[in-house]
Amino acid sequence: QRVDAQALQALLRLAEERDVMGWASRMFAGDPINHTEQRAALHVALRAPRALRMTAGNTEVSVGIHEVLDRMTAFAERLRCGVFCGARGDAITDIVNIGIGGSDLGPRMVCEALDAVAGQGPRLHFVANVDGAQLAAVLGGLDPARTLFVITSKTFSTQETMANAANARRWLVEALGSDAVPSHFVAVSTNLAEVRRFGIAEENTFGFWDWVGGRYSVWSAVGLSVMLRIGAPRFRELLAGAHAMDAHFLSAPLGENLPVLMALLAVWNQHALGAATQVIAPYAQRLGSFVSWLQQLEMESNGKGVLRDGTPAGPTTPALWGDVGTNSQHAFFQMLHQSPSLHPVDFILPVQADHAYADQHRLLIANALAQAAALMRGKTAEEVRVELAARGLLGEALEQAVPHRVFPGNRPSSLLLLPRLDAYHLGALMALYEHRTFALSVLWGVNAFDQWGVELGKQLAAQLLREDATSNPQIDDSTRSHLHLLQA
Ligand code: F6P
Repeated sequence: QRVDAQALQALLRLAEERDVMGWASRMFAGDPINHTEQRAALHVALRAPRALRMTAGNTEVSVGIHEVLDRMTAFAERLRCGVFCGARGDAITDIVNIGIGGSDLGPRMVCEALDAVAGQGPRLHFVANVDGAQLAAVLGGLDPARTLFVITSKTFSTQETMANAANARRWLVEALGSDAVPSHFVAVSTNLAEVRRFGIAEENTFGFWDWVGGRYSVWSAVGLSVMLRIGAPRFRELLAGAHAMDAHFLSAPLGENLPVLMALLAVWNQHALGAATQVIAPYAQRLGSFVSWLQQLEMESNGKGVLRDGTPAGPTTPALWGDVGTNSQHAFFQMLHQSPSLHPVDFILPVQADHAYADQHRLLIANALAQAAALMRGKTAEEVRVELAARGLLGEALEQAVPHRVFPGNRPSSLLLLPRLDAYHLGALMALYEHRTFALSVLWGVNAFDQWGVELGKQLAAQLLREDATSNPQIDDSTRSHLHLLQA
């Protein structure tokens, strides 16, 4: 990173002035820091050990959290050992998690990341998109008698999820009859009335609370699919890893506080160095969905246009993007190395492999370190000249070749090392980014826990679905002409 001691001191003063740790204390105390929805943001309570009592406002929350966790554990154990079975007495071999946004990205990413430690758990499938192609592809390979659907939706009203759930239900009823529904559907939601209306039994419903934001919810019952796949002990290790990072965030001095330092570096890169975007490059195939999870976490949290008091904000979160190394080296790293714009990179690398191909893990590590070094060091015109001359290139041909092979260098990156990609360290990694996001929201002065920006599109889609859409004067001419085209 391009910070010297003086810059770092200034950044640490900024964290003090903005009271990052004061806001952190308020979050952990369950104060309603999500002020536009008058709610706490208390996902940290979901991973606190049983003995640690936490409150949202004046309400104690820990007992309820552990009751749900215990119910999830009992259910997961019954299903994984075949006691909970389908309507015809078959063991459940396939779970389909139906949900979108935070009700999909977290569980999906964690299941993929921890697949190597899943043992004999049932196969897991995810359906999020309202595009029926995804549901069709998943259902096409399944046996209804051995399939369990987990309908995951905080509100139980999200259009995509409800459409997928209704068609999944139809598919099941056609095969097994409506009496089979209670044995093949479970729900994860805060909206118990809607769950009941859908026909899911109370004993198969796992609740959570309005102070759990969707993108922060995998630690709650939203993680049920994860628990079914990897088992309760591994799921609790995930929580323990996240809790360890919570404790670090709350107690480490600012200058040693990893989420705070990462947030300060992000601010420095963006505001002082003019970074255009933030790139995430996990050097771990099983973190293939990490960037999608992080995109929602960061951009739904901090992609805001106004400060807490409603006045206009300056630039907030830059676009966050990326993909696994080494694939991305052969795709977009060209731009990171040579384009005029600056794109800082977080490299994420598990030190130990969990497969037998040690030679390939050496290659992976060498590539991650090499990319970070190349970004930092670059290559001067003089170095290129010497290299090309040694290969026999001379005169004008050499001079023409030089500029294309120069690397400006001095491009910032961070290297995050995990001892290994297991549940504990994954939990810590996720909590690290959650707190980085939160610290950034405090530095920028925005509310990280609402998401009003997703509402307008939802409202307009509802308008377009009405019978009278083409004659509705509220619909603009451009959209109406598209509607006519599509209806022709
Ligand atoms: O896209 C908006 C959003 O509310 C996300 O914040 C949330 O994770 C997602 O929709 C799904 O919401 P729900 O869990 O209520 O279906």
